[in-house]
Amino acid sequence: MQTIKPLDKSPTAANGNIAVNGHDGSALRAIVIDKIDAKIIKELRRHGVDVKDSPGMSRGELLGEIGQYHILIGRTRMPVDKEILEKGTNLRIVGRAAVGTDNIDFAAAERNGVKVINAPGAATESVAELALTLTFMALRGVYNGSAMLKNGEFFKNSGVELAGKTVGIIGFGRIGSRFAEVLRPFNVNVIVNDIAKMNGRVKELGAEFVGMNELLARSDIISLHVNMEANTKPVIDGSSFAMMKDGAILINTVRAAAVDMHALQRSLASGKLGFYASDVLWNEPPKDPKELEIIAKDNVLITPHIGAQTNEAQGRVAEIMIPNLVEAIKELKRPVYPADNGDFVDRLEYHFIE
Ligand SMILES: NC(=O)c1ccc[n+]([C@@H]2O[C@H](COP(=O)([O-])OP(=O)(O)OC[C@H]3O[C@@H](n4cnc5c(N)ncnc54)[C@H](O)[C@@H]3O)[C@@H](O)[C@H]2O)c1
Repeated sequence: MQTIKPLDKSPTAANGNIAVNGHDGSALRAIVIDKIDAKIIKELRRHGVDVKDSPGMSRGELLGEIGQYHILIGRTRMPVDKEILEKGTNLRIVGRAAVGTDNIDFAAAERNGVKVINAPGAATESVAELALTLTFMALRGVYNGSAMLKNGEFFKNSGVELAGKTVGIIGFGRIGSRFAEVLRPFNVNVIVNDIAKMNGRVKELGAEFVGMNELLARSDIISLHVNMEANTKPVIDGSSFAMMKDGAILINTVRAAAVDMHALQRSLASGKLGFYASDVLWNEPPKDPKELEIIAKDNVLITPHIGAQTNEAQGRVAEIMIPNLVEAIKELKRPVYPADNGDFVDRLEYHFIE
């Protein structure tokens, strides 16, 4: 259970009334560093929050200004690490307008009394559909065929059908299980692995729960749907690639960190891995020469982290986040009164102090 540290001063307005805003009677201030659904910004403003909308703000700029804000809202682009949380001396809420919270330093947030609010489940459908899209793109060489045609070359590249193949799903939470459901009409064998036991749901979706080694050995297509908060090292490493079928396809819509980059490069170079289709990179945008080499390969297709980039998913992010943001703002606005001994007593409700 996360608790928000009270503001440094009780929110008393200049006119002596209890202010419904930030410390010193000034408005609560929020900085938005990525493009998010306008409804979230509108709702913050409706609750008296002074919002600076700066999509694309750099880390350096944010570090220079973060001390002024009570609320920081962004997507997954910028890690919210110890340095940001410590420089944000007034920071009380970090809103992550996304599903994953793996690049937020939770320990530092807790130490500094900062509450993290995200949008679990918002992108389930969109990511499951993207995993299916990447699967077909990999099976049929759709991208390369089209790119060659645009380049003036008419070349009929061959592919294989999805029907009859074995799809291994690693991580059977919201997105992994939805992906299994989406695959049902395609006549595939779905095998799944998860660190949690979840046989009931697996059977319901006509899938089979297997150990990780068996999944790696049997799958023609492996799709990753783990949450990286639960993992300190890559889920797919050199030994995982060694266990895969020759020419297997790996789909990664999770995080680049779920796959060991060097092992991936080796398995692509040796031909062990047939195709790597991904929505995520180690650096976004990419900059490491090794990842640029991977992106350029013919048997690699990487989209620019568009898993949740649909109108529907972004609308759901707003729907899921807004009530929790509003609740946290209300908690912050509640006044704190010094007790006789000089300590702060618990927050009082407004109706006691009208
Ligand atoms: N590409 C995108 O834009 C995008 C959008 C949304 C979510 N995501 C990613 O998808 C991930 C999954 O989302 P979700 O809503 O399904 O999460 P979830 O928490 O519902 O499910 C994750 C599942 O993975 C399992 N798991 C974790 N580590 C594992 C391991 N090593 N081996 C096997 N199972 C493991 C967990 O037990 C859990 O059941 C998110 O954490 C996020 O990183 C990406």
